[in-house]
Amino acid sequence: MHHKLRVVSIFGTRPEAVKMAPVVKALAAEPQIESKVVVTAQHREMLDQVLGLFQITPDLDLNLMRPDQNLAELTANIFANLDPVLRQLKPDWMLVQGDTTTVMAASLLGYYNRIHVGHVEAGLRTGDRWQPFPEELNRRVASVAADLHLAPTEHSRQNLLREGVPDWRIAVTGNPVIDALNEISKRPAPPEIQALLAEKGIHPGGRKLILVTAHRRENFGQPIEDICAALRILSEKYADSVHLVYPVHLNPNIQAPVYRLLDGAANITLLPPLDYLPLVHLERNAYLVLTDSGGIQEEATGLGVPALVMRQTTERPEGVEAGVLKLVGTQTGTIVAETSRLLDDEQAYQAMAHAANPFGDGHAAEHIVKALLDFREQ
Ligand code: UD1
Repeated sequence: MHHKLRVVSIFGTRPEAVKMAPVVKALAAEPQIESKVVVTAQHREMLDQVLGLFQITPDLDLNLMRPDQNLAELTANIFANLDPVLRQLKPDWMLVQGDTTTVMAASLLGYYNRIHVGHVEAGLRTGDRWQPFPEELNRRVASVAADLHLAPTEHSRQNLLREGVPDWRIAVTGNPVIDALNEISKRPAPPEIQALLAEKGIHPGGRKLILVTAHRRENFGQPIEDICAALRILSEKYADSVHLVYPVHLNPNIQAPVYRLLDGAANITLLPPLDYLPLVHLERNAYLVLTDSGGIQEEATGLGVPALVMRQTTERPEGVEAGVLKLVGTQTGTIVAETSRLLDDEQAYQAMAHAANPFGDGHAAEHIVKALLDFREQ
């Protein structure tokens, strides 16, 4: 009998799990492939939420999260614990996604063990090695180690070509985040979100919902304080017309300042990190989004919800070109001014509020599986 292609998907954090879930499902449905899932569990609670939602049971769970882990410890633990697993599983391919520490370390281990590495969401670049930190370097390391680059867009393909990656190693597949978003959007909004919207009077014609997320390492310290100051000013300035909802990432460097500066403000709701289902439904009901995250930029673009990106650079210029995203940095005054403009000026708002799909057709997972099966060394 023909040997099945053994593919191990490796991921560790919540966003990787969201984006890999459709891929894992498509791999499992393909008769020519034997699919395995290994999680580093770089995140514990936040990863488990997503695994449950998409009903994914890992074949192996390395359970590597430690409280307030630093990058070196985490990297060392991934090397030490994932290497024996790969030697034992001996896969033909490993798939990694994005730009986390899990991706950086796993893709190098793929190279060390002569396992073919497929990199999902390949070719994103800000061009600034310190932003986002350490993700910009993580993605470049993954690109050096990868055999097959599953680029979400033509723009990301061009980034890879410019770095000397041969064209035959690149497939433009779209980003599976759109597959995940479409699937989850079809499910009904969970009751706790319906209750929250009703309680705060959030509906068309009622209060406007501003959804906030912020967790980037380069925003630790003064920038996150400045972001919180802006949120407080906005909550006071629009006390009667706006409600802010901020699900706060579990990283202690984010938890501490956010709760210190914003807890108790009248029209700000701070929540524990949300499961993907309620988060998507908040995004769908948001008037606008304030974020420093990556996946939310893609989701907002797909949903046509204007998003102000609280960073200096973005690796997702497609959303800016589509007009749905705008970079605003992390200074208090700028965040307040740009948010106020979208709240006060209907024309400025409408200019941003239209859905666009530069990030894929919603069938990225199938395109990724096909690219794997079609891959031939040249
Ligand atoms: C990581 C990724 C980042 C990604 C983000 C998504 C790296 C370097 N960073 O950042 O690219 O955008 O995930 O969320 O890979 N924690 C918990 N429970 C959880 C998750 C985190 O308690 O479920 C706390 C722990 O104290 C942990 C800390 O958060 O030590 C930091 O987690 P870590 O994975 O190192 O970095 P993130 O900031 O989550």
